[in-house]
Amino acid sequence: MPTETIAPNVHWVGAKDPGLTVFDIVIPTGYGTTYNSYLVRGTEKTALIDCVKRPFAHELFRNIAEFLPLETIDYVVINHSEPDHAGALVDLLERHPKVTVLLSRSAKTFVDNLVNAGFPFRIVGDDDELPLGGKTLRFINAPFLHWPDTILTYLVEDRILFPCDFLGAHYSSPEFFNDELHEPGKARKAFEFYYGTIMRPYKEHILKACERLKSCPISMIAPSHGPILRKDPLSYLSWYEERASILSRVKEKKAAIVYVSAYGNTAAMAAKVAEGVRAGGVEPVLMNAVEIPIDTIIDEFEVAAGFLIGTPTLNSNVPHPILQLIANLVVLNVKGKPASVFGSYGWSGEAIKTVQDILTSMRLKVSPEPVRVRMSPSAADLAACVEFGKQFAEILQGT
Ligand code: FEO
Repeated sequence: MPTETIAPNVHWVGAKDPGLTVFDIVIPTGYGTTYNSYLVRGTEKTALIDCVKRPFAHELFRNIAEFLPLETIDYVVINHSEPDHAGALVDLLERHPKVTVLLSRSAKTFVDNLVNAGFPFRIVGDDDELPLGGKTLRFINAPFLHWPDTILTYLVEDRILFPCDFLGAHYSSPEFFNDELHEPGKARKAFEFYYGTIMRPYKEHILKACERLKSCPISMIAPSHGPILRKDPLSYLSWYEERASILSRVKEKKAAIVYVSAYGNTAAMAAKVAEGVRAGGVEPVLMNAVEIPIDTIIDEFEVAAGFLIGTPTLNSNVPHPILQLIANLVVLNVKGKPASVFGSYGWSGEAIKTVQDILTSMRLKVSPEPVRVRMSPSAADLAACVEFGKQFAEILQGT
């Protein structure tokens, strides 16, 4: 893979992984990913910003060697210590044990346990600067974007922000910059998906970082995954700020109702639950999890004041679309939100209790008590569903 010079004496020396289909075991990526690493050469000192995933260390070293011998690098900045960036640090330290590792105090513990050996290091604090000779690196504390260890690095003279995962995307292409992409729509989709699956839980921290970065003139954003944002870099920051501001819109008092239904019984219950919610003065958003993309459902859950899950029982268990939805709730701060469960079943109906238990373990306020119906709901069962919806609306009105 060729290297790329992104500014005078600033070079991309990372690795591309276009064949990757699943990141971190659970995050699908239709476009692979990249592990971006950047070499900044001052007149006196040289720094590497972030490394790559360990299996790609040889590519990193080969790319660095195009510009200088690896052993002449003075510093390596660890913006974030997750192994897709810090993994190759282990190999770097083996080849060049004198390089000084610059990292946050929180990252030191992680890197100690990654390297499992001593290494030269310097803890960098917020606003600390490192002169390299004509190039100055400034470090910005940005905890929880998306680990507690995260710092952002800003190259003062070239106005380049290196934010590691923040503003990244799992997107690999032969091109390097966002204004060169042949399929910019797909890259944009990957950027937004990355926010939704990785950064979404950290809205308050995103808003703090966006505010903080307003005092830094930025001409380019060079994240550690995906395209380098050379064209309209600030629009990406604004998009994050707008999305993270969604917190203030949660007061809209919507109830998200999601269900699946094999024979129409749980669907009929869902319609009546929605009727009850509306009668209780709250707007219901009714979604069939087989038909609506999971991203859309999660978006609705995020702005809803509470949510209800309708599930039948299949082979004594919860159907996959509902399990998948619950697994995806980790990207939301759902603790304390009202929620409950309803559903039709044939033999035993374990799924309703299973979902109830999971929601309780996630510290949601599970109320009212779930409604369970064997086979087809009767007129009385449907009336109970309306009442269940009304009670839920009352709970939301009280929050
Ligand atoms: Fe790309 Fe959090 O690592």
